[in-house]
Amino acid sequence: MKARMIRPFIALVWALTSLQAAAQDFPNRAITMMMPYAPGGPGDTITRLFAGAMQKHLGQQIVVDNTAGASGSIGTAKVARSKPDGYTLLMIHVSHATNTAMYKNLPYHPVDDFEPIGRATNGPMVIVTRNDFPAKDLNEFVSYLKANGPKISLAHAGVGSASHLCGLMMMNALNVKMNEIPYKGTGPALTDLMGGQVDVLCDQTSGTVPPVKGGKIKAYAAAGKTRLSGLPDVPAISEAGVQGFEINISFGLYAPKGTPKPVMDQLTAALQKSIADPDVRQRLDAMGISAVSPDQARPEALRAHLKYEIETLGALLTKAGVKAN
Ligand code: MLT
Repeated sequence: MKARMIRPFIALVWALTSLQAAAQDFPNRAITMMMPYAPGGPGDTITRLFAGAMQKHLGQQIVVDNTAGASGSIGTAKVARSKPDGYTLLMIHVSHATNTAMYKNLPYHPVDDFEPIGRATNGPMVIVTRNDFPAKDLNEFVSYLKANGPKISLAHAGVGSASHLCGLMMMNALNVKMNEIPYKGTGPALTDLMGGQVDVLCDQTSGTVPPVKGGKIKAYAAAGKTRLSGLPDVPAISEAGVQGFEINISFGLYAPKGTPKPVMDQLTAALQKSIADPDVRQRLDAMGISAVSPDQARPEALRAHLKYEIETLGALLTKAGVKAN
């Protein structure tokens, strides 16, 4: 075999053996956990909670990186390009599925370029508004949206994000069109909602229940068929006769494709311990969010959930003719 033919083969063998060797003493330095939405939102809150729990079990610091923008696809692409050695992870939710339908030139494939570690949480969403929104209850809220749709600003975290999907379902269910205002996360969106700069936001409960209870924003409905544990007096949207509108958001943890199996096993084990961690469960419960069961915090469960979301929620956006670029 000529030297020019053998060189790539040697490089591949070297790369594989150096990855396997590195896997022997993983982790021996800090790990980065990407949360591709802005600080202060539900994704950031959940990521920091799991980063804090998992670093205890892995014995190395986990640093959160909030590279945000383009509904999480910029930070996600950064992880897809990173070295598959276990030191760069991605915490993400439904936008990992919807971005495939949203962006024609996505620089990664959500399935082929990632190794699933496991699911982490499940959580509901709630429809909230600025404090002086002119509707005294859910029925008046629905009537006001139907009468004033295009004049109402709907904040979300970018096309295909959870808050956008929820807003889309709300507009479809009420047959209204609102004026969409995208942000790099619902942390900054919530700040503007509390300041009265935008009118409506559908967001996960981790960031919305405290300001509702603190009288800074108003909650009109849980985005589904059941009321929220943290806001028992807020009706479910189905109580206003609005059907076909139910959304739950699940966060999952990924590593880049090619991360060695021994490293993946350690990461899944640390995730498993974190979902069983009493402090994690108590803090999630206070936010109205659930940790998944042990069999859900597994690679095959996350792989199956992503496939389901690509086939259903991605299709919902495509059917609605929603495209980002
Ligand atoms: C979203 O999809 O709305 C994001 O999770 C919001 C965020 O985490 O900032």
